[in-house]
Order: sequence, then C-alpha cells, then structure tokens
Amino acid sequence: MMMAANPSKIEAEIQKLRDQINHHNYLYYVLDQPEISDAEYDKLMRRLEALEHEHPELVTADSPTQRVGAAPSEKFAVVRHRTMMMSLANAMNAEEMVEFDRRIKRFLKIEGDIEYVAEVKLDGLSVELVYEDGKLAVASTRGDGINGEDVTANVRTIKSVPLRLLKPKRLPIPKLLEVRGEVILPKRAFVKLNEERERKGEPLFANPRNAAAGSLRQLDPRVTASRPLDIFLYAPGVLEGVEFQSQWEFLQSIKEYGLRVNPESRVCRNVDEVLEYWNRMSERRHELDYDADGIVAKVNSYALQAQLGEVSRSPRWAIAYKFKAQQEETRIEKIEVQVGRIGSLTPVAKLKPVQLAGVTISSASLHNLDEIRRKDIREGDTVMLERAGDVIPYVVRVTKKGHPRAPEFQMPKRCPECGGAIVHEEGEVGYFCVNANCPARMRESIRHFASKNCMNIDGFGDKLVAQLVESGLVKELDDLYKLKQEQLAQLERMGEKSARNIIDNIDASRKTTLDRVINALGIRHVGEHTARQLATRFQTLEQLARANEEELRAIRDIGPEVARSIREYFDEPRNLKVVERLARELEIERPRVRAGGPLRDKSVVLTGTLESMTREEAERRILESGGRVSSSVSRKTDFVVVGAEPGSKLRRARELGVKTLEEKEFLEMLGGGR
Ligand code: IVH
Repeated sequence: MMMAANPSKIEAEIQKLRDQINHHNYLYYVLDQPEISDAEYDKLMRRLEALEHEHPELVTADSPTQRVGAAPSEKFAVVRHRTMMMSLANAMNAEEMVEFDRRIKRFLKIEGDIEYVAEVKLDGLSVELVYEDGKLAVASTRGDGINGEDVTANVRTIKSVPLRLLKPKRLPIPKLLEVRGEVILPKRAFVKLNEERERKGEPLFANPRNAAAGSLRQLDPRVTASRPLDIFLYAPGVLEGVEFQSQWEFLQSIKEYGLRVNPESRVCRNVDEVLEYWNRMSERRHELDYDADGIVAKVNSYALQAQLGEVSRSPRWAIAYKFKAQQEETRIEKIEVQVGRIGSLTPVAKLKPVQLAGVTISSASLHNLDEIRRKDIREGDTVMLERAGDVIPYVVRVTKKGHPRAPEFQMPKRCPECGGAIVHEEGEVGYFCVNANCPARMRESIRHFASKNCMNIDGFGDKLVAQLVESGLVKELDDLYKLKQEQLAQLERMGEKSARNIIDNIDASRKTTLDRVINALGIRHVGEHTARQLATRFQTLEQLARANEEELRAIRDIGPEVARSIREYFDEPRNLKVVERLARELEIERPRVRAGGPLRDKSVVLTGTLESMTREEAERRILESGGRVSSSVSRKTDFVVVGAEPGSKLRRARELGVKTLEEKEFLEMLGGGR
C-alpha cells in the first residue's frame, strides 16, 4: 500500500513553489530582470500544477496557475470606490506651472522650495486595485470617480498585476491596500492587434487607449488574456496597516510589494526641475512603448498634501501638464466612403495635406458613423489630427466648425462605388455593401488574393488592380487565370514586356498549397491561421465547401461565428462557382498528414522567430506531422516552440507550466518520425 504523503508537507511545498514563482514573475514582469532560465521556471510551474492537480482542495484563487478565470458573465457589477477617484487640473504652459507652485506656497504659507514627484501622464484607463491581506480582492475601473465597474476577472489576466503581494523585508503586508493606476496597451501591441483585425475584416481600434479600454471591458476574460495589457500604479487609495510619508516613499514601497511603477518618475526639488522634466520627457515620449500625453506633478509630502486638500474633484496638490501634442490642425475637404473587401463601408476624411511627425498626411480614417457623431465631425470643419501609437493618423476633435456649417454626415443609402444596396443592422456599427459584384469589393478582393501570404503574385499594385477591374477583364477571381498577354498590353501605359511579366507571375502562382487558396478566397473571419487548420482538416476545396457548421466548429479555434461565416460563403452559389473554376485553374498540393506522425494529436503554439524556417513553414510541418497549431497558449497546449524574441506566449506558457521546445528540439521532434 502506498503511504499518503504528509498533507502539511505538501501544503508547505505548494506554498514554497507559489512564493518562488511569484518572486520570479516579479523579476520578469515588474523589474524586467529575470534571474532563472525559462526551463527552470517551467519546472517550478509544472511541479506546482502537478501538485494542485493531485490536491484540488489546495488550489487557491491567488495561485499563479489561476490567472484566467471562468465563463463570461452578462454584465459588470458596480463597485463603489471607498474614496473618490479624482481627476487632475491642467496647466496649459510653463507659466501656469509656475503659478500652480506659487499658489501652493501661498496656501501653505511656505517661502522655500516645494518638493514634487514628477511622473509620466499615461494615456490609458484608470483602475483601482484592492488588496486585502495581501490578496488581490477587487479591481475596478474609475467610472465616474464614485462608482466603477468590477473588472477583477480581466485585471487578473494582466501578467504584471500580482495576485498576491510580495512580502518586503522592512514592511508589513497591510490589511488593506488600495492602489490606483493606469492600464495601457503598449504601442507595438496596438499596431499588431490592428493588423490582425484588419486581416480578419474586424473593425479597427482608433488608438492604444481605446484598444486598452476595449480589452479591459471584455466580458470574456479569455479575450482580455490574449491582449498584452500592462499596468503602472501611481496613487494610493485607502490604506490600513501601513503608512507612507510621501509619494516617493509610496512608489518605492509598492514596488517592493511587487506592484509595477513607472521607472521614469523622479523627485524634483522645485518647480524648475519639474519644468526640466517636462522638457526632457517631451523629447523622449516617442521612445516609450506606451502613449503618454504629459506629465503629472505631485507635492511629494503627504502631510502637505493633506493640508492642501482638494477643490471640485481635483486635488490642490497635483497638476497635469500636457505635452505639446504631436498634433496638427487641418481642414476636412471632404468625407468619402471607402468600400472594403467584405463590403464594409468606412468613412474617410480627405484632408488639406499637413506634415505630422515627419509625414505628409492627406487622409484619415474616421472609422465609423458612431465615432463621427460622437465627435460631430463634418465636411469643412477644422480638426486636430494625431497619430495613434505614433503610426496611424486620426481625428481627435473638431477645433473650428466650418462656416457655414455643413450638414451632419450621413452614411450613403447606396454603395458609392456600385450603387448597390447597403445593409446596416440595428444596434451594429457596421454598414455593408452586399453587392458581390461591386468594383470596390472586387479590387480589394484581388489585392488580397494576390498578396504575399495568399497566392503571392508579384506586381499587383493598386494601379494594375484598378485597371483590371475597370476594364472588365477581371470580374471574378478566377478570371485572373484566363488573362492573355495581348489583353494586358492594351491597358493604358502597359508595355509588352510588363504584360508578359504579369502573365508569368500569375502562371507561377498556379502551383500552390491548399491553405493559401483558402486564405486567398477572402472569407470573412478566415485568416492565415484558420486557413491552415481548414486545409489540414478537409484536404480539398470540395470537401471544405461541403462541411457543415457542426463539422467546422469541431475544429479547434473555430467558433460559431467563424463557422457560420464559412458556411455562408459557400452557400452563395456565385462563390461556389468561383471556387470550382479556381480549382480547375490551379494545381493545389494536398496537405500531407503522416499517419502516426511525431506530433500526432499534439497541440503546438509558436512564438518568436525561428532560424531554419518561416512561420508558415513551421505551421505546415506541424500539421503534416499530425499536430495542431494553436494561436494561444492554454492548459491544453502540449508544446510551445520558442524562437528568437519570443512574445507573451512564452510568459503564458511558463505560467501554465506548458512544455517549451527550443528550435533544435523542435527540429529533432519533427525529424523523429520519418
Ligand atoms: S494621479 C488625484 N498620476 O490622469 C490623483 N493620474 O486627469 C489623480 N493619469 O484619472 C491621479 N497618469 O487616469 C495620476 N501618473 C499619473 C497619471 C494619472 C495618468 C490619469 C488618470 C487620471 C487622470 C486625471
């Protein structure tokens, strides 16, 4: 008979593992100074998972294994903040900063210098974290400052938020610690997220702030977990069982509790140093991987803060001083509507060209009608432009109304390109042209079809695509393969030689793989990754076209919406005909799946760049070896293949204790079954 292990011994080991893991998380996520290798970290995590698996009664909510919580609820609960979350007064220029300093001295009847803490003003979403006896109990949004929304489940998925405070040497774990801060989405993550959404035909986020807000206010914490949100904490709420004398002491101390604070914060001996800080940060703001819109100066001493108190929802002891925005004013000459590949209509402002952060900008997406209404943007208005995440230009607000004012912008009743009907569902933001023959849709479809990750046809610039559609040479995607050199040569400014080249490029694309063709069709919600999964599962276009929603949903990562969209695509007789004709023109290689391949039934996630092959190739080889490729790491993931500069998936793998493979091990594994 086996002896039951001593329960208190197991509990002790679990506790020790959690402490170790929390400590290493802190080094990795908060200080950015890991001390152990991934493999060592993995080992700790796997051991903890195994013990918790054997002893489910010992699993606690603050265990590092428990970040992503359960099922979506219907609505966020309301959380009342114990003390109001205030906002800040603004200084518009250096003069007003100096005046702020003078006011404080007058109020306090102090002659000498006032010491400040200068911080970056983060452009994110303010939140409050409540730690009770060191455990994260509640996280809420600011809301109106008095009542916020309970976003605990989502905030728990942010890796830099400790679920349990670390025990510093010199400080007790307080009975209650409320900390306030800002949730942000790093600029790079924002750009990547929007690229992904564009590929899938999903609406884009206007800027990192909106993306962070959208991610945090997701009902399903799994979605939030997939967005690499981060946090910086900067203000105390109610405290019990701990006391701080100053803002600087507060920042240093909460860092020791494992909370992330912004490393750019500085003590300034007087207001002049605050102004220097503003100058320095104004120049450096673009180096930061998050949007910052100014600085905040706070009186350092908490005793003085208490004396100063507040006026109308803002503290007297703090002020924000915004950066000169990377903004320019210009006039909207016209609001046009562009039609995308799946027929979605996007209003676009055509602008009087301006230079903004080194680039000439002559148009900016207005995203959707709701956004236009909210900002009341009209033709002829002068608007403030900004570059979201320093990349995409967008309209911040109207600065001067046109005179006379143009009427409110209306979405067209008919498609501006083809005159076809527009569909708009009540309660949805989107408007769609449903005419599959719409030339604008056709242009976008061809552009997508020919793009690198689809049929990879060289030389398909905007000009050629527009000519092909306008001339009527290409009415359906498969018409591309019927083009003759003589026909192309007749297009304006097209020589014999270029025509020959184009035909050659098109011919070269005939020999291809099934996943590329599926991706190229431009089915809504089907991108590269889904296309690859569909290719392996169905082997031929005919079989895919016959699959019902249930069969589609049985594939990992394919939810009801994607399944419906695939089915809708093939239910359209016209699409089906195009697919049939394409199949005849192309020489499609079937995905090979080795029975009993080395990765049979294994779920694999890729992160980082591999040296020996592209990501597409790696995915293909995994599928060919019988494995499945997933886009996100979960408990069900068998391996995470780690290339150079791995992303957040590696962190997640470490957290869940999923096995990681270096490139060499991965290659060996692929080779092993041959
Ligand atoms: S202190 C009473 N510090 O700015 C103190 N706020 O207009 C109030 N913010 O709602 C907050 N960075 O969302 C503070 N380093 C920082 C900040 C910051 C950004 C935001 C915060 C607040 C708003 C106030």
